[in-house]
Amino acid sequence: MRNGKSLAAGLAFLAASVAAGVAAAGEAVTVYKTPWCGCCHEWAQELEKAGYDVETVDLEDLSQVRQQAGVPQDMLSCHVAAAGGYFLEGHVPLEAIGKLMSERPAIAGLAVPGMPQGALGMSGDPEPYDVYAVPRDPKAAPSVFLSVGG
Ligand code: CU
Ligand code: CU
Repeated sequence: MRNGKSLAAGLAFLAASVAAGVAAAGEAVTVYKTPWCGCCHEWAQELEKAGYDVETVDLEDLSQVRQQAGVPQDMLSCHVAAAGGYFLEGHVPLEAIGKLMSERPAIAGLAVPGMPQGALGMSGDPEPYDVYAVPRDPKAAPSVFLSVGG
């Protein structure tokens, strides 16, 4: 966990990566989380273990970052990350991030709403959940990108 990065720098990074829609093969991930969330930290660590270059930014209010990234209200979870020009909302599994980075669809990002038990960085008996692809058009509905378990 690092607090060194300022909010302004973090937002600039997010805006730049979202606008450009380009990045190296998904290596750099900036995780925006609240200081008191444990499962966000676990998720970030899992990404780091998987070889991503993870930077964590603690913010008490994530709404600005989410608004800028285009995360819909009904897709919210506990943290939001920026990776390769996409947002990742919630406990998005490695499999989905890998698929996103290799296929590079024209979407805004991926979301796992809520906090499913057993999802990456979450404890408990695994329950099935869907990873949603969120379109860039805010009026378009998210679709299922990947189903996990079930
Ligand atoms: Cu969580
Ligand atoms: Cu989290």
